Amino acid sequence: MATFEKDVIIALDFPGKEETMRFLAPFEGMSPYVKIGMELFYSEGPDIVRAVKDMGLKVFLDLKLHDIPNTVKMAMERLGALGVDITNVHAAGTVRMMEYAREGLLEGAAKAGNKAPLLIAVTQLTSTDQQRMEEDLLIKEDMPKVIQHYAANAKKAGLDGVVCSPLESPIIHETVGADFLTVTPGVRFADESAQDQARVTTPEKAGQFGSNFIVVGRSITKAEDPVAAYKKARTEFLSGAGLLTV
Ligand code: C5P
Repeated sequence: MATFEKDVIIALDFPGKEETMRFLAPFEGMSPYVKIGMELFYSEGPDIVRAVKDMGLKVFLDLKLHDIPNTVKMAMERLGALGVDITNVHAAGTVRMMEYAREGLLEGAAKAGNKAPLLIAVTQLTSTDQQRMEEDLLIKEDMPKVIQHYAANAKKAGLDGVVCSPLESPIIHETVGADFLTVTPGVRFADESAQDQARVTTPEKAGQFGSNFIVVGRSITKAEDPVAAYKKARTEFLSGAGLLTV
C-alpha cells in the first residue's frame, strides 16, 4: 500500500482569477488541494499560483511540460521556486527529459526554501485511443503496455507517479510499485452523467482501486453546493481507500 497522502484535488477550470476566487471563498478554513491548468495559468500567469498558495491551499500545477531536456529543466526551476506542490511533464519527452525536469524542479524549490514538490508524468492522454496512437503516433503496441512502459520510464527517471485513469491504478501499482503515485481524473458521482469523459468511476471505487489523488472538476465546480460536493467526494474516496469508516 502506498504511503503517500490521499486526497481529492479540485480542478479549478475557470477562465480567470475573479471566478476562481469567487468559487474558493466558501472553502475558507478547509484548505483543499486544487489543480491549476493551462487555461487559468495562461490567462493569469504565476500570480494565480501565488494568490492560491497565499490562501493556504496546495497546488497541482498541470502544465504538462514537453520540450528538450534543458528547456524543461529551466522551466521546472521556475515552478519549483514558485512553490507548487505537484506538477507534471509528458513521459513521451523521454527518460532524460524527465530526469532533467526533476533536477530543475528540486533545485528551484531548494533555492527558494520550498518543500520538494512531487513530479508526475502523463503517459498517454485519455483523449488518445488505440487507433490514434497507432495511426498518428505510429506506436503499434497495446495501450496498457504503452502506459506501463511510460510509467516505468517515469519511475526510472526518479518521478513520483503518473496521471492515469482510476481503472489503471491497480496495474500501475502492481507493475511499477505500490509507492508510485496514481493521480486520477475521470471521476463522477454514481448519480451523474459521464459528460465528455469516456471511462469514469466513482470516488469510492477510485479509492478501492488505489488512486492516491482523485482530480474532480465539474462534479464539484458545477454543483449547487460545491463545498458539500467536495466533502462528499472526500468522504467517499477516503472510505473507499479504507481510511474512513462511514
Ligand atoms: O470536470 P472533470 O472532472 O471532467 O475535470 C477533470 C480535470 O482533469 C480537467 O481539468 C481535465 O483537463 C483533467 N484531466 C482529465 N483527463 C486527463 C488529464 C487531465 O480529465 N487524462
